Amino acid sequence: MIPPHKIDEIMNAARIDEVVGEFVNLKKSGSSMKGLSPWSDEKTPSFMVSPAKGIFKDFSSGKGGNVVTFLMEHEHFSYPEALRWLAQRYNIELEEEKPTPEMEEARSERESLYVINEFARDWFVNQMWEEEEGQTIALSYFKERGFNESIIKKFQLGYNPDSFQAFTDVAADKGYKDEYLFATGLVKQKNERKYDGYKGRVMFPIQNLSGRTIGFGGRTLQADKNIPKYINSPESSIYDKSSSLYGLYFAKGSIAKEDNCYLVEGYTDVLSFHQKHIENTVASSGTALTKEQVKLISRYTQNVTLVYDGDKAGIKASLRGIDLILEQGMHVKVIMLPDGHDPDSFSKEHDRIEVKEYLEEHARDFIAFKADLLMEEAKGDPIKTNDVIHAMVESIALIPDTILRSIYISECSRLMHVGEKALISELNKSLRKNHKQNNRFRGNENVPEAPIIENDFQQEQKFAEDTIEHQERDLLRLMINYHDKEFTMELPSDEVPEPEKYNVLEFILDEIEGDEIVFETEKFKQLFQEIGARYDEHGFNQNHFIQHSNEEMQRLFIDLMTFPYNLDNWERKEIYVDSEEKKLRRAVMEAIYAYKSKRVERMIKECQQMLKDAMELGGDVEEFLRKQIKLEEVKREINRVLGRTVLH
Ligand code: CTP
Ligand code: MN
Repeated sequence: MIPPHKIDEIMNAARIDEVVGEFVNLKKSGSSMKGLSPWSDEKTPSFMVSPAKGIFKDFSSGKGGNVVTFLMEHEHFSYPEALRWLAQRYNIELEEEKPTPEMEEARSERESLYVINEFARDWFVNQMWEEEEGQTIALSYFKERGFNESIIKKFQLGYNPDSFQAFTDVAADKGYKDEYLFATGLVKQKNERKYDGYKGRVMFPIQNLSGRTIGFGGRTLQADKNIPKYINSPESSIYDKSSSLYGLYFAKGSIAKEDNCYLVEGYTDVLSFHQKHIENTVASSGTALTKEQVKLISRYTQNVTLVYDGDKAGIKASLRGIDLILEQGMHVKVIMLPDGHDPDSFSKEHDRIEVKEYLEEHARDFIAFKADLLMEEAKGDPIKTNDVIHAMVESIALIPDTILRSIYISECSRLMHVGEKALISELNKSLRKNHKQNNRFRGNENVPEAPIIENDFQQEQKFAEDTIEHQERDLLRLMINYHDKEFTMELPSDEVPEPEKYNVLEFILDEIEGDEIVFETEKFKQLFQEIGARYDEHGFNQNHFIQHSNEEMQRLFIDLMTFPYNLDNWERKEIYVDSEEKKLRRAVMEAIYAYKSKRVERMIKECQQMLKDAMELGGDVEEFLRKQIKLEEVKREINRVLGRTVLH
């Protein structure tokens, strides 16, 4: 258990822009920061972070919250996991009690797998640096391959000794459960016998975006062709192969800074480039590139450069990967290394400047690259050439941007000596086909529609809507956003002859509670009452609501703080907010007046109905009559006091 005072300490230390910034590329935008939503496919940023308020809001998915909620949503952490992550990030010591066996048991499987992987990683590192076998076999292997100590340490490379149960035994001593050990693939079992899954292999830990070890690649040191060169961790609740990229944890900062990501094939390619300080490099680790991986990259840059060895078969196989990148609306370049070289071997033979120069000079736009590659294969055969043209056009049809598409069409026409008109008509066929397929996909799979971002007009309409719910929302919005603002007003009342200063929050509270009106919309009612009850005791504490233990309340509060507008509107809105502030008094009065008169009107109607019923069915007529008179009085008072100030 993390004690409450520690939670406070963590929350006070954590800076939301820093934390979110580790996962999303944020740019300053006025007093807030914005970036591409990590939860949806978008080209224009609608994800925003307000460092001052300590909150984030993602307008495309509707998610919003504080720094803890962000980690829970984004990293799929549990609440304590998120707090622990923050504690570590901000060097806050958590003197947690020693876990009892029961607590250990109760810990989530995910946490257990992390713990085992991290224990294994450290143990493998130790075996390689401290033990003789590791030094002579593993460390010397890495050094012979040209890796320096700092890169070996940075990537936490290690060694699993060449005996059947070296790791299995220490893991058993630590008391880790078999079930979890098997799930990580570090220990295997055959005929009741447990043994090391990575016996005699050098170990490459795989990190997730926050640096935790989610899996391993283990390379054999034997040349035997019958032994798999690499063994990779099985998928587990913490390791999803299709959505992780080797090296991204170390590369993400540089990818954003360079606004480009080099994509290579293997572990050693990543290491070699990083060693040459080309740190914007990641690998898909042998598997075909997936959409999730492309989306991961797109959080940091829209530019991907594929770096290939000269092997044609490999390149052809990766053409599908290129299409995936295009589909995301990203830009792709391709670099071919000289014959027989992969990024690793190439960077061994050249110094940093030479490698950089080579990469810069040989980056080719994918369209020219693909055209060349396929045309060369067709060797002038007209039927094959025709196929090539189709293949090219199909790739181009995947690009979401119309202008970019037409640029590529001209380029293609020039490269392949085909008229632009013919290409455009092919392109249109392809586009129609894709469109149909997408629709069919929707129909069959019942895929939810992409969230539609409403335009200004719809938004404006929604806000102008004259319903009780919207008026209650508006009142809360005013209370929350201007809780510390004051306005001056002269109320036409005998008791207060002088203009008085009023606090927005207090004023609305008094006005609503004073007339004994209770909000109709359940969630608004709850929030309003809690704000009121707390205000009397503690004043208004925004953080209490941002960190509210009831998730729904928390979300509602944050929604009210950040208008449900997309970012562009939001910015515009801020200008409007500025003037709204000046017109604060008017805004408050109008909101209260509109709400109250509507509510009283309605209460009168209801009362009339009940009065009618009581007269017909026989009941306490008098009670309703009294109520009716009281309500009419309230209505007159509202009109006298508020109506005058509003309609003057
Ligand atoms: N790979 C794999 N299993 C294999 C072979 C390859 O998972 N049996 C993956 C690994 O992620 C590897 C990548 O494919 O890094 C590229 O393969 P390869 O080029 O053969 O390996 P390198 O990483 O280049 O390793 P080395 O340079 O040590 O041969
Ligand atoms: Mn290699």
